[in-house]
Amino acid sequence: MKLQNPYSIIIFTGTFFLSLFLYQCKTTIQSIQPMGEVISPTGNPITAEKIELGRKLFFDKQLSSDGTVSCATCHLPQYAFSDQKSFSDGVQGRKTQRNAPSILNAGYLPTVMYDGYIKTLELQVIVPIQEHVEMDMNMLDLLKRLKANEEYQESAKRIFNRDFDAFVLTRSISAFERSLISQNSRFDQYMSGNKKAITKNEIAGWNLFSDVLYCTKCHPAPSFTTYLPENNGLYLDYGTDLGRFRIFNDSNDIGKFKVPSLRNLELTFPYMHDGSLKNIEEVIKHYQSGGKNHPNKNKIIQKIDLNSTQIKQLKEFLLTLTDTSYMSQFR
Ligand code: HEC
Ligand code: HEC
Repeated sequence: MKLQNPYSIIIFTGTFFLSLFLYQCKTTIQSIQPMGEVISPTGNPITAEKIELGRKLFFDKQLSSDGTVSCATCHLPQYAFSDQKSFSDGVQGRKTQRNAPSILNAGYLPTVMYDGYIKTLELQVIVPIQEHVEMDMNMLDLLKRLKANEEYQESAKRIFNRDFDAFVLTRSISAFERSLISQNSRFDQYMSGNKKAITKNEIAGWNLFSDVLYCTKCHPAPSFTTYLPENNGLYLDYGTDLGRFRIFNDSNDIGKFKVPSLRNLELTFPYMHDGSLKNIEEVIKHYQSGGKNHPNKNKIIQKIDLNSTQIKQLKEFLLTLTDTSYMSQFR
């Protein structure tokens, strides 16, 4: 090639950098790292005994005022620790105001709840216990009740070297939550080198999700969430649940909810903070439309054109994120 002509030089260098850029894009996609270890806070190292105590408490209905509701009433193991209902059932037939999220991989959450503001799992534990529509339990009464239980009191002494108290309750339940890992989906197997783990159509769906569409801006692998509060244009008027707005009363937060992980979607329907979208098709329709033009909608979300094959591929890719291997401990 003759490079004397200045235009050819520009075209040549341009092409060179473009190929370098495309090559780099490709390598980042291929080198998605696994999620790494869950880091426990220094005050609460994870141990097998603590997990076991937390697990008993998680499934114990004594944690609610009328003895009918445990954490697992709304976070069922077989549904990726969610409950396949738009709103969940608390004590006395009361309903929650939001859809129960999966708590698999909860140990990675930098903030807890849809509003994205509670800093640790330890702090979260007492919220549902005291919440009127969930377990509606007075903490002092609860601690008395649990301390009177010989097995709990004995475990508290043995593991924490203290009487059963709020420290023991919150530390053990959160240790149990940090043990709930689900990262061996077919997609993970594919990313760790087993090229046969997913089909051609599923790969095409992944390419749409990650390269063609903008989904990975908020749902990047391997966690499939940025964990940030975002408005995805679900509504023009968010009605009674204004999302993160309720924490700081900042109008820029209206309609912002923490981006959920897309792992185990197959088990966690219905979708969104209010369970208003019944299935994956409805979710794809929402994103195809570009969402409602709420002033806080993230501008990345725009109308997209997808043909029926692409819709099918996108859905098939999303279904490769299911991993129920964690269930072996719950059968
Ligand atoms: C009556 C149903 C119900 C019960 C009982 C319940 N939860 Fe939840 N849980 C929910 C709902 C609904 C949310 C979403 C609330 C929100 O974000 O405002 C939630 C959110 C969570 C989250 C946050 C997950 C995330 O992605 O941010 C954790 C962790 C959690 N619950 C753990 C527990 C534990 C531990 C217990 C028992 C002490 C419990 N839940 C009891 C319904 C319930
Ligand atoms: C600007 C950030 C953003 C982008 C881009 C985005 N999402 Fe979301 N996504 C969210 C938020 C926020 C929610 C939760 C909204 C709520 O709870 O009301 C969500 C929820 C979902 C859910 C439901 C999950 C559940 O458990 O309820 C699915 C499925 C989903 N998105 C898929 C996609 C797909 C597919 C794309 C690309 C076409 C995409 N998202 C692009 C922010 C985003």
